[in-house]
Amino acid sequence: MTVAAVVTAAGSGTRLGRDLPKALVTIAGTPLVAWAASSLAAVCEQVVVTAPAEHLEEFRRAVSHVAARVTVVAGGATRQQSVALGLAAVSPEADEILVHDAARAFMPVAVSGRALAALDAADGVIPVLPVVDTIVATSGGEVRYLDRSSLGGVQTPQAFRASALRDAHARAAAGGFEGTDDGSLLAAYGYRVVTCEGDPEGRKITYAEDLDHFERRWARA
Ligand code: C5P
Repeated sequence: MTVAAVVTAAGSGTRLGRDLPKALVTIAGTPLVAWAASSLAAVCEQVVVTAPAEHLEEFRRAVSHVAARVTVVAGGATRQQSVALGLAAVSPEADEILVHDAARAFMPVAVSGRALAALDAADGVIPVLPVVDTIVATSGGEVRYLDRSSLGGVQTPQAFRASALRDAHARAAAGGFEGTDDGSLLAAYGYRVVTCEGDPEGRKITYAEDLDHFERRWARA
């Protein structure tokens, strides 16, 4: 099997409140995008990073020490478009593709292994964590309580058969379907998507508090 990865890092990260793209923010002296790309380079033959078009050179520098097989391409206006642009740069020889958010920079590499292993029996695998909060659906001031035992929080890296991922992206682009992850695209087009166990260390870095969490963790290490 030839395995490739797309790392989405083209977001601006405005919610983080920094004046540089989120994936270039450093923890322990290493940019988030390099943490994420290193973890995938351990299990992939090729890693394609999507970056904001106006920061390509900074991103290339940020991942230059990771591995020669890491390349950087310009992302798009949405996460989904960024993944599609990354996919276009993935070798046609790849049979399996991992898609990972640089914002989950500290996801243990074992989760990539679990996702790829579960791909034997599915077209797509999404890492999931149990929901710990009580969850309600809200609309127009009304609340509806959901059964949290049947819910899960979805993480990345997500693993896919390359043909299914490419097909789902092509159909979503043609049909105007926009998902917040890639598993939802496969599910929308009838592909079999299953779960594997996620990891709390894969917490998404969105707000300054998330960054503080990992800064404190590395300060203790
Ligand atoms: O904005 P959010 O945190 O949901 O983004 C998830 C991931 O998608 C991040 O790693 C971000 O860099 C990436 N992204 C992207 N292209 C965009 C928007 C987000 O690659 N246009």
